[in-house]
Amino acid sequence: MKNLEIEIVPYYDDNFAYLIHDIQSNKTALVDCGEAEPVLRQLEEKKWHLDNILVTHFHFDHAGEIDVMKKSFPDVTVIKPAGENRLDVEGVEAKDGDTFSLGLTEISVISLPAHTMYCTAYLADGNLFVGDALFSAGCGRLFEGQAADLERAMDKIAALSDDTNVYFGHEYTVSNIEFAKSVEPNNVALEDYRRSVEMKIESGQFSTPTTVGLEKNINPFLRIDQPDVIKSVDPKNKLNRTERIGALRSMKDTF
Ligand SMILES: [Fe+2]
Repeated sequence: MKNLEIEIVPYYDDNFAYLIHDIQSNKTALVDCGEAEPVLRQLEEKKWHLDNILVTHFHFDHAGEIDVMKKSFPDVTVIKPAGENRLDVEGVEAKDGDTFSLGLTEISVISLPAHTMYCTAYLADGNLFVGDALFSAGCGRLFEGQAADLERAMDKIAALSDDTNVYFGHEYTVSNIEFAKSVEPNNVALEDYRRSVEMKIESGQFSTPTTVGLEKNINPFLRIDQPDVIKSVDPKNKLNRTERIGALRSMKDTF
């Protein structure tokens, strides 16, 4: 029986927050809180009480209105990346491998430092909430981490089961697909995916969630060992794997 109900909460131009509701216990967690108002509206509509806020990273568009949310739910428990002292909010520190419960649902913590050095993802019943660590057909900019961090983060995601749903932090998918196509012009899966994403967006839906299995077929950052990706990024085959993912990220930065 399905135990989780997940609501997508779009805000700002292209951000996503998520409500995770454990049906049997009636407990609800929010992933990221850059803007409280749209979340409050959705909670009101659903008649849900907010029990937890899970923070993926400190950037203001993901964590900037936790205080506002706490005014409406003073007893909410914030779960935040361990060691991230730029997050000025009280809460339980989450480090890699930790687990905690939302009612009957176990949530595990997966650290994915790269976009920031404290980026943290949360895995709940086959649903991974990644913030800006991974996007569909792309990944977050390397603001703090190095190529080796990005490589580790991508390998950690790729090691999850293919049917894991991945809920990401920004609707960047269409432009990411354009970049991915420039890296792998002959990847037919990308063209099929572009069509299905465009149809979704035109009808007012979102491209989130994706799945680990789908991303392995279309996301160049998870396809760093594919011959066509190697050919595009490093035509003379001079780079090692870590350098190659760094070079791929640099290509995206200037695309
Ligand atoms: Fe970010």
